[in-house]
Amino acid sequence: HTIFLKDYAPTPYFIDRVEMEVEIAPEKSVIHSLLHVVPREGTEPGTPLVLDGDELLLNSVAIDGAPLGLLAYEATPSSLIIHEPPLRRFVLETTVTIEPEKNTRLMGFYRSNGTWCTQCEPEGFRRITYYLDRPDNLATFNVTMIADKKLAPVLLANGNPVGQGDFEDGKHFAVWEDPHPKPSYLFAMVAGDLGSIHDSFTTSSGKQVALAIYCEHGKEDRCLYAMDALKRSMAWDERRFGLEYDLDVFNIVAVSDFNFGAMENKGLNIFNDRLVFAIPETATDADYDNVERVIAHEYFHNWTGDRVTCRDWFQLCLKEGLTVYRDQEFSSDERSRPVKRIEDVRLLRSAQFVEDAGPLAHPPRPDHYREINNFYTTTVYEKGAEVVRMLATMLGEAGFRKGMDLYFERHDGQAATIEDFIAAFADANQVNLDQFIHWYLQAGTPQVTVSDSYDAASQTYRLTLEQKTDPTPGQPEKQAMLIPVKFGLIGPNGSPMSWSKVSGAEVKGDLIMFDTGKAELTFEGIANRPVPSLFREFSAPIKLTTSLSAEDQLFLARHDSDPFNRWQALQTVATGILLDAVKAGGRLTDEGRVDALATALGETLEGNSGDAAFKALTLAMPTEDNIAQAIGTDVDPQAIHDARSALRKAISNRLHDKLLAVYNALADQGPFSTAQAATQGRSLRNACLTQLVAGGTEGAYSLAEAHYRTATNMTDRMAALAALVHANAPVAQALLGDFRTLYTADPLVLDKWLSLSAQVPDEATLDRVKAILADPSFPRNNPNRLRSLVGSFANANPVQFARPDGSGFRFVTEFVADVDKRNPQVAARVLTAFRIWRNYEPVRRAEAESALKSLAESGSLSRNTADILGRTLAG
Ligand code: ARG
Ligand code: ZN
Repeated sequence: HTIFLKDYAPTPYFIDRVEMEVEIAPEKSVIHSLLHVVPREGTEPGTPLVLDGDELLLNSVAIDGAPLGLLAYEATPSSLIIHEPPLRRFVLETTVTIEPEKNTRLMGFYRSNGTWCTQCEPEGFRRITYYLDRPDNLATFNVTMIADKKLAPVLLANGNPVGQGDFEDGKHFAVWEDPHPKPSYLFAMVAGDLGSIHDSFTTSSGKQVALAIYCEHGKEDRCLYAMDALKRSMAWDERRFGLEYDLDVFNIVAVSDFNFGAMENKGLNIFNDRLVFAIPETATDADYDNVERVIAHEYFHNWTGDRVTCRDWFQLCLKEGLTVYRDQEFSSDERSRPVKRIEDVRLLRSAQFVEDAGPLAHPPRPDHYREINNFYTTTVYEKGAEVVRMLATMLGEAGFRKGMDLYFERHDGQAATIEDFIAAFADANQVNLDQFIHWYLQAGTPQVTVSDSYDAASQTYRLTLEQKTDPTPGQPEKQAMLIPVKFGLIGPNGSPMSWSKVSGAEVKGDLIMFDTGKAELTFEGIANRPVPSLFREFSAPIKLTTSLSAEDQLFLARHDSDPFNRWQALQTVATGILLDAVKAGGRLTDEGRVDALATALGETLEGNSGDAAFKALTLAMPTEDNIAQAIGTDVDPQAIHDARSALRKAISNRLHDKLLAVYNALADQGPFSTAQAATQGRSLRNACLTQLVAGGTEGAYSLAEAHYRTATNMTDRMAALAALVHANAPVAQALLGDFRTLYTADPLVLDKWLSLSAQVPDEATLDRVKAILADPSFPRNNPNRLRSLVGSFANANPVQFARPDGSGFRFVTEFVADVDKRNPQVAARVLTAFRIWRNYEPVRRAEAESALKSLAESGSLSRNTADILGRTLAG
């Protein structure tokens, strides 16, 4: 059953106030709800009121205190229909029983590690009580929680605390009032025996906010960094967007069983604990970055998501794309902007471009779905953020801010659409965005091809741009997009060139507004042949093909004023070498080009054209997935792996002395600090080590082993271990064993072990992964453990997942069938690893298809998994 955007209609009744009493107890919890219902204007008498439910057991139902007769309603586990409700404001009263302990789907109210908690987005609230469980119904909530005081001394819900007290039977209660009307997906409750840390924040208008982070007892010190990130996020949103916090308290709870990263419930954010906990002994610098980023992301949702929410789930990108953009900007301001941009583009290319080129492709705003949970995708999130970023690029910081201000002025307290959002920017800046909005509506990554020519006699430079987007499922025809091309022309001495006149497309400052299938720009008054630097800062989410030679690329790597394009130029040269090597079966064919690349990398390493983290990023060659994507069809992952290993080895050999020198120069790291200089130093030193290990020498292996053994923080320890694992060094197995023993008691660190164990590029890995999974002590219901092991195998071990005998594929599909019975969302997510199956060479393609087909035949699958599987096979 498919839901279409075009069928959107408001409900005949709405609920504007909810009063709930929740009695929490082991095995069974009882939810008593008073829903204040109002018929909408124009609702005909006799129109039934239809409420959503999911696995609910109804005990009683009444209207305005009078119990309803059996014929007045119909209750099933999935809906409650009131046949002829009064055509005036009334209170619908229901009591239902639910079983959080049995809730392995982790949607609705469930129990994690002893703590009761909720996850309601998108459709979990209906698993708590019958309701209009859709984002366009906004209501104020008053929640009374009752629980045993020993089992659950902490009782939290949305909004402000307004009452609490004890009962005589050892139970106690807490009352929470959320004055901000909200949709049900933002509802949250937590009850448990938790530790906490506390702090406060004074907003720019002088309001005091009490901040707290709750977690498992004994882990409080691991929350301090998250608290610091929270306070910085609150200050940043005031500075950058003038947005202040709006309740007396802001609470965060870390839980260990969580389907996703975190959730922005009003005033009560609930987090996967891996995105809260950070101490140097257990968290890497990348973990710290993620904690900071996600704390900021969820906090920023308070305005972009909670105060202005989505009219329907097709608009998900309205809050997610915008909030990812905001968290990216926060990280850029707090850390290195160019480094953040490169990291974000790497993620976009390795996940979103792949999604957009395969059977699961969809626009940032889809127009139909079978299962909304399957649309929390990298397209909605990361491409959505790119679209917002293009707006900001075109309008400038001030123009973007004007649009944001108008958006809040118009829509605060409302459930809005993408059209509303775009209209605010168009109206605030008096610009027409009619073509731009297609970025939200059209799937697929535009491919931009560039060619150029220079005529010395007329001092004219011509630049030809062409765009084309391949068909995607359900969208055979594509139209031209408005693509902002941030650019510069670079003269022979490396300095920027200006022109006297340009024609052929609109050029605003350093932006070409490229909005047709083909544009031919003519620049006049150009004294020498320039080298064009296009898509600076990656100004649009497109795939670029240029006619520039490797020589020109290396020129850009040296002279471009834009750090992103300096990095890009080196990646482009490396990609060219790798594609040729794959064609040759995994052998390097052009030593000259490898020399030139190595020389340029060496210059970057020793020069000062970028900070340490930038240098570290230049050393990372395109990933195996990047290369597979560039090849497109008939992919042989083994040849790609061999080609990449060969290039890394060649670079390592050529740069050996330089890498070692930088590695040694950075040896004295001093005491651990999260300051920029310290994290960047670690990242460069570890990148040098990784590159040395790729050389495959005994010397490098023992250097890495010593690095591992003497490490005083997790960043250094993991860097050495990961380098050895990815190189499949003989010592890797022993060190993995050592690591396992060292951290047996720490689940989040064990996730790193699970993930690395699954990534070893070795024949024996599949059997090891199977053995780990079959171990009776393996926590079979914890999403983090499952994803770390099987998610890493499927997504981060391209050669072993795609074993030519199909055993890797079958392992994953059998796993999906099994997990699907308990947690459909985890199962469906792991299955998306097959989105590339049609790109394999024929042998692997046939094996993948047969594994998918047996999954389809294996019996009853959840809607989540059936939807992904159906589209994967069809597309
Ligand atoms: N809104 C949350 C966030 O991005 C994610 C919720 C994910 N839920 C889901 N069912 N996929 O911060
Ligand atoms: Zn979000």
